[in-house]
Amino acid sequence: MRIGVPREIMDHENRVGIVPAGVDLLVRGGHAVLVQAGAGLGSGISDEDYAKAGAKVVSDAASIWGEAEIILKVKEPLAPEYGMVRAGLVIFTYFHFAAYKALTEAMLEKKAVCIAYETIERADRSLPLLTPMSEIAGRMAVQEGAKYLEKPMMGRGILLGGVPGVAPAQVVILGGGIVGTNAAKVASGLGAWVQILDTNLDRLRYLSDIMPPNVHTLYSTPYAIQESVRLADLLIGAVLRSGGKAPKLVPRGYLSLMKPGAVIVDVAVDQGGCVETTKPTTHSNPTFIVDGIVHYCVANMPGAVGRTSTYALTNATLPYAVELAGKGWKRAARENREIARGVNVVDGRITHEAVAEAWNREYTPLDRVLAA
Ligand SMILES: NC(=O)c1ccc[n+]([C@@H]2O[C@H](COP(=O)([O-])OP(=O)(O)OC[C@H]3O[C@@H](n4cnc5c(N)ncnc54)[C@H](O)[C@@H]3O)[C@@H](O)[C@H]2O)c1
Repeated sequence: MRIGVPREIMDHENRVGIVPAGVDLLVRGGHAVLVQAGAGLGSGISDEDYAKAGAKVVSDAASIWGEAEIILKVKEPLAPEYGMVRAGLVIFTYFHFAAYKALTEAMLEKKAVCIAYETIERADRSLPLLTPMSEIAGRMAVQEGAKYLEKPMMGRGILLGGVPGVAPAQVVILGGGIVGTNAAKVASGLGAWVQILDTNLDRLRYLSDIMPPNVHTLYSTPYAIQESVRLADLLIGAVLRSGGKAPKLVPRGYLSLMKPGAVIVDVAVDQGGCVETTKPTTHSNPTFIVDGIVHYCVANMPGAVGRTSTYALTNATLPYAVELAGKGWKRAARENREIARGVNVVDGRITHEAVAEAWNREYTPLDRVLAA
């Protein structure tokens, strides 16, 4: 199989879809790996490193997209890349279809096979390819939030951990999954007062057992959220309905209840965001202000720490990439339900319920496609 790894073109996206160890493994398996020149630079990996591992380094994106049978990347294809997608091409990457209508329509029209990292799902419902990036985004949410709480960044002028004699900041986290837990770890480590809201009581019990005493749990209801946003110096959005749009838990009216200069980091922006006023931003221009509240809504947060993120991501994606290359996507999906859950779009049809629901389109069960 020919596997193509193009350079990412999203703003400040420093990650890359493969590391030299992955190239080596695929080449040992009898596959050819084409890597676009410069693809690894943002992660500190040179073209020579790839070539030494057995990759063919190719200068332009069009050749990679044109020659590869599987495209392995990080972020969803962007508009300049749509034209290079062809029928039957397997694309293994993050898609977040529920947040991007034009992308969904383009991939349907091109009849590509889109296997989304974020919906690869284990039997216990965990999301092994979302987890490493959620760990990073959760930790970063606190770093970024702390920075934008500084006065020169238009924040309230509050130090997250406070100092002796001065109260610390109050950090409210909506969703106690991977992002929320990692955010709570870092915020509590810095000395902030932290509250996590979740609708899953078992998760709250677990968090209450493992977290330090400055982390508090609260069952999530609209009423509880309304009360908690009043407290928040930093509000972190970290909820998820797998594959679907994030529920809007913070309507615009709640912003006037918040302290002026408070910061919202809506990590869930990649699924549309859980705050009504959220709109995607970039690393070049990460924030905007609505009703006196600073919003940070970067959809590719881990891209800023490319070196850490690339290794964390590819540690998790590589076994699946090896299986897809070795078996072809159809056999891999038949034999591995985790991969089957990742198949979102095939041959102009939507094969993931939550994506179909997000755009009010017809849902075709994957088994029907595989049986045909
Ligand atoms: N912006 C970025 O760069 C970036 C990076 C990584 C992950 N993400 C996104 O962050 C979001 C969270 O990811 P995750 O891995 O932590 O998901 P997760 O599934 O581990 O956690 C989500 C949590 O939200 C909870 N939840 C659902 N509805 C809720 C409600 N009404 N109130 C409170 N909690 C509720 C769930 O019970 C669950 O515990 C996802 O949208 C993911 O795509 C964004």
